[in-house]
Amino acid sequence: MAGGGFVPQVGGRNYQGGVTAFVVITCVVAAMGGLIFGYDIGVSGGVTGMPEFLRKFFPATYAKTKDTSENEYCKYDNHLLTMFTSSLYLAGLVASFFASGVTRAFGRKISMLFGGLVFLLGAILNGAAMNLAMLIIGRLLLGVGVGFANQSVPVYLSEMAPAKIRGALNMCFQMAITIGILVAQLVNYGTAKIQGGWGWRLSLALAAVPAIMLTIGSIFLPDTPNSILERGHTEKARRMLQKIRGTDNVDEEFQDLMDATKAAKKVEHPWRNILQPRYRPQLIMCTLIPFFQQITGINVIMFYAPVLFMTLGFGQNASLMSAVITGTVNVLATLVSIYSVDRFGRRALFLEGGMQMIVCQIAIGIMIGLKFGVSGIGTLSSFEANLILFLICAYVAAFAWSWGPLGWLIPSEICPLEIRSAGQAVNVSVNMLFTFIIAQGFLSMLCHMKFGLFFFFGGFVIIMTIFIFFFLPETRNVPIEEMNRVWKAHWFWGKYIPDDAVIGATATSNTLNSTLP
Ligand code: BGC
Repeated sequence: MAGGGFVPQVGGRNYQGGVTAFVVITCVVAAMGGLIFGYDIGVSGGVTGMPEFLRKFFPATYAKTKDTSENEYCKYDNHLLTMFTSSLYLAGLVASFFASGVTRAFGRKISMLFGGLVFLLGAILNGAAMNLAMLIIGRLLLGVGVGFANQSVPVYLSEMAPAKIRGALNMCFQMAITIGILVAQLVNYGTAKIQGGWGWRLSLALAAVPAIMLTIGSIFLPDTPNSILERGHTEKARRMLQKIRGTDNVDEEFQDLMDATKAAKKVEHPWRNILQPRYRPQLIMCTLIPFFQQITGINVIMFYAPVLFMTLGFGQNASLMSAVITGTVNVLATLVSIYSVDRFGRRALFLEGGMQMIVCQIAIGIMIGLKFGVSGIGTLSSFEANLILFLICAYVAAFAWSWGPLGWLIPSEICPLEIRSAGQAVNVSVNMLFTFIIAQGFLSMLCHMKFGLFFFFGGFVIIMTIFIFFFLPETRNVPIEEMNRVWKAHWFWGKYIPDDAVIGATATSNTLNSTLP
């Protein structure tokens, strides 16, 4: 048992009970949360490439796409059009702050239920949209839904999961995001072919399917023992733990839960706490990692792949197909990370993925620069178009086994309990903020920076890869409650970690020597 101000996590011990049906259902509900997020990411690009959609809501952009004399880089540059995509993330950013309060005070289940319902409303409004206002209000509602779901589902998941499968479950959430993106791209590919031009309605309305599943799922699911305990119902919490673990013998785990809850209650100001110098490494990582994840430029591909491919002169059908190809690569490459993250470590994935992304971005920038120059007028042969598609796939694969899942995993595993919720809130909000900025800024960045845009993102990937090399210690196989030893042993961060922080942690750490960078 840990002392000295540190609380034991329900991680390094041998609790009774196994993986029960409850836990499996938990996974399915969590997957719905990831799916609604992913579906949103994937659906907007295809819809904004559909002529009927543009003609109805963005006639000026539609006219530009028909004008062959227009500079290719600027065809889709329209702030209202980007607002359609990005407004969701702004709403999600604001909603996640409210969600954290609701999740704490009323339980995880209520937040999931609320998230599912609001999201459902947004999907209906979008599918039925008669004007721009309905469209944007619908997107804002979807954003509120995503904010609540992203805040509550991962917490629900980690609290329900037995410690030994918590890491795998964490990455399953990312897996669900990528599946959601792919499903949306497939739907777009199908609906774009619908005669009469109402395919975009179906694409937007189908977001209701995962929303209904999340809503219904959360009505029937129990709340987590942690949440029940947090709200003062000790006996009920114990019974729930027995139920989800499938055994009456939960004393050890329950005692740890009680200790953790007690300690967490003592921290009156988690926000002030995280600002203390001793938490500097965690605060910096929880801020920089989501920022870096977004500045890789991945969402340029995820949101705008069809528009990007159209800009490069692919036809509408070929553009949507290409988006499906990148979406498939995204899902498959995520499997690679699930397989290798605990075998080869986080740093290996970050460094390999980073280098692969840099090479691809520079090559894409050079090719587009040579073919379209600064004027933005030019064409690609089919060989050149296929080569660019290949490079984009190699870039997406590299992201999907590095910054994609690790961008969520690292912030969640490096914080001690007393600052974990604050650290996680920083992570989610920085992520949403930069998702918003990139979504809003991309089309005009493409218009102004032209092929230089790829060098811009590539330059950031160089910086972040160097940053990881020097500043991120390896956390593979390190029990979460012993993480301070990793920071203490680090050449740079060590000076921020007081000695008592490490002495307070569990003393047995055989894994560490072999995992430090
Ligand atoms: C990121 C999203 C991104 C997705 C792509 C996630 O980890 O947070 O912004 O669109 O990966 O698969």
